[in-house]
Order: sequence, then C-alpha cells, then structure tokens
Amino acid sequence: IQIPSWKKNIVFIGFMGAGKTTIGQLVAKKLHRDFIDIDLEIENKYGMPVPEIFRKFGESRFRQLEKELILDTCTNTCLKVISLGGGAYLQEEVREVCLNRCIVCFLDLSWEAFKNRLPFIVDTRPVLQNKSLAEIKELFRKRSAAYSMHHLRIGIDDLDFEKSADQVVELLH
Ligand code: S3P
Repeated sequence: IQIPSWKKNIVFIGFMGAGKTTIGQLVAKKLHRDFIDIDLEIENKYGMPVPEIFRKFGESRFRQLEKELILDTCTNTCLKVISLGGGAYLQEEVREVCLNRCIVCFLDLSWEAFKNRLPFIVDTRPVLQNKSLAEIKELFRKRSAAYSMHHLRIGIDDLDFEKSADQVVELLH
C-alpha cells in the first residue's frame, strides 16, 4: 500500500558525527512529530550502551538488532522522525525499507569537516577504535556509496544544527 508522502517517516542517514540525532530532534520539534533514535532504542531495550553491546555480543549481533528494529519501525509507524546509526544504512534490507516507505534525508559532511569532529566522537564509536586515519578515511569513502541512495541531501559543513534543521523542513515542503 502506498503511504501518502506527508505521512511518511523521515529518516536521517549519514556518517557518525554528522548530527543525525541533534538535527533529527530539531526537525521533529519543528514538525510536531515524535522522534526515534534507533541507537537509543537499542540501548533501552538491551539495558546497556552501544559500545558495551559491541563488546559483549559483537558487531554482527548489533547489526542484527539494528536491522530488526529499523524494519519494524519503518513498517509499522508513520509520521515519525527517525535517526539511524551511521552503519545501519549499509545493510541492503535497511536501505530498501527506508527508500520504499520513508523520506530519506542524507546529512552530507565532507571528509575535512568530519576530521575536525573526529576527536569528539572517537571514544564512543566502537567502529572507529584502533583504526588509523587512513583506515577511517577508507570507511568514510566506502560508506558514501550507500549514502548516495537518498531522497534529500543537505550539505552541513557550513551550517549549524538549527540552520540544517530549517533547511530540511524547507526541502520537505
Ligand atoms: C555506528 C554508528 C553509531 C552506532 C554504532 C555504529 C557505525 O551511531 O550505531 O556505534 O557503524 O557507523 P552514530 O552514527 O549515531 O554515531
């Protein structure tokens, strides 16, 4: 069944540190919608932070949990604003459900801008741990291919969170 576009969930994708949660929250507030952060949902459901889930159960188990929750949320809800973890969109089934049922908004951060944010996010992101800058750059490059499948794109290098959220709302109209 086709969902009318004004009812569709809005899904934020993009690399770690792009501001998916912060901008998602602002957009939800501006549109008077509920906000769902997938990582936070997983943490609440399993009673531990994401890095601990990685440590205890491994990345593949985390990816499984992440996929199940996204498929369920995207299939059974509407009118939400949802932010995904940066790696979720690498899974084909996730991309498929998001592209078919939601409005996918890519928060596009350049490598240079990301590099400046790296020191602030590295400690809490297990996929960045024990990696050289060259390896992180390679991860960034590879993921760009998946992120290129979206409906809306916002270049956020020169924008603050509030301006980014305003631009999303404008593009949605
Ligand atoms: C991940 C990104 C994180 C979180 C987990 C894995 C990734 O979310 O889901 O640490 O593989 O990019 P953010 O994009 O919110 O940092």
